[in-house]
Amino acid sequence: MESVQKLIFELMERGILIEPSAFDFIKEHGIPVEKIYSLEIEEGVLTRKHLEPLVEEVRNEERVEVIRPVKRVKAEEYDFFVEVENRDTSNGNISQKGVELFVEMFKDRYEKIRDILMQRAELRNAVSIGKLKDIKGNGETAIIGVVREKTKTKNGNYILELEDTTGVVNVFLKDDATKLGDYVLEDEVIGLRGNYNGNFFYASNIVFPDVPLPTDINKVSDPVSAVFISDLHFGSKEFIVDIERRFLKWINDKDDKIASSVKYLFIAGDLVDGIGIYPEQEDDLVVKDIYKQYELLERFVEKIPEHIAIVLCPGNHDAVRSAEPQPPLPKELVPELYHLNNVFLATNPAYVRIHRKDGEKGILVLMYHGYSFTSLIDMITPIRKYGTTNPQYVMKEVLKKRHLAPAYGCIIQAPHEHDQLVIDKVPDIFHTGDLHSHCVDNYKGITLISSSTFQAQTSFMDRVGHVANPGKVTVVELNTREVRVLDFYN
Ligand SMILES: [Fe+2]
Repeated sequence: MESVQKLIFELMERGILIEPSAFDFIKEHGIPVEKIYSLEIEEGVLTRKHLEPLVEEVRNEERVEVIRPVKRVKAEEYDFFVEVENRDTSNGNISQKGVELFVEMFKDRYEKIRDILMQRAELRNAVSIGKLKDIKGNGETAIIGVVREKTKTKNGNYILELEDTTGVVNVFLKDDATKLGDYVLEDEVIGLRGNYNGNFFYASNIVFPDVPLPTDINKVSDPVSAVFISDLHFGSKEFIVDIERRFLKWINDKDDKIASSVKYLFIAGDLVDGIGIYPEQEDDLVVKDIYKQYELLERFVEKIPEHIAIVLCPGNHDAVRSAEPQPPLPKELVPELYHLNNVFLATNPAYVRIHRKDGEKGILVLMYHGYSFTSLIDMITPIRKYGTTNPQYVMKEVLKKRHLAPAYGCIIQAPHEHDQLVIDKVPDIFHTGDLHSHCVDNYKGITLISSSTFQAQTSFMDRVGHVANPGKVTVVELNTREVRVLDFYN
């Protein structure tokens, strides 16, 4: 009871007296003195009335203590495992490789997506376009090809020019296919069911490659979490220092149940605001030296606890080539990050497998900054109106099309003998950014996360139609796949 005596003296020093019954009440209910210090005692006398509300609070805390697991969840207790499957960025020099490499790349895209489409029951009997003339008028059939051109007739119907390696056919979309025509993009690979009359293929259904329905949801045994952020934009005048400060305070808080479970942090590009990304950008910068912008990023990363593995990829604001796939940040820009064992520099896009151990396959993350999204949202009319503030729509579209930039020209794609933007593996988590909006959704078992930003709305964003929703941080519990969104802004 030494602390109670101390309490009496301390309260007396503050001009507060303790009623004898209050003294007994403290002893009887074991009320911690720390709780009494926080009371507001305006009348100068501590009475039972002040103390009674504390009894329930103390009991509840005791109850929480009883049900608390013996071993607290602490990510430090587990090793991280990170396997970054970077894209090959060595063949990006267009002048050296010429147009042949583009032809190779489109052939590869066609073959990879055709193989995915062939697994669809509706397309198992698909014939090559060159063979259509042999089966003319013989009932319904299926074809697979690249959409070379899409036109809309005066009556609102779509006509496609579909091509495979054996030929080209004109397609008229009818019945169910008419509405789906709004979603078809030039250059994507699709399947069609319908009839051929020797002149036109009348398609009654369009089959997109899509991802299969999951048989189960992939999880890990260890109680660890992954955090997803992007579009930090260090160096911008609109960078919100408060979000950075609050985020760092949280992720370093060992008493925070969620923060102490964090084992992985993903940052999906636009790490800095960059230089010369758009006209008159200089007016929007507080740090005008690109190296100094990356120094701010380095200082940020260094403040993340070292037991957390950090995976970073570039975005269109970063100082690497803009053609996708983009290479990882080079040593020249972030020398300090190359010394940190917990930092993994990825290409954009990249597949990243985390926490594979003890016979478990871990969680596969598809990380893509998302620069194609603005153009795609504009091209796909049903999602045009709400697409930039609801990124889940365009994320679902690219998964259905199994390509991160299905329409040629929605990004600059570096030529390569393989089309490295094909979504050839089905991820557990699809993480993107760029739109500065935020969403969490689920599509056929895949957790969709479009990260928020650390930057407020800029005049440049006004011009491209983006609406900032800053400070949202997404946390996925890898052992339950439960998703939480924390708000470090409002
Ligand atoms: Fe951004």
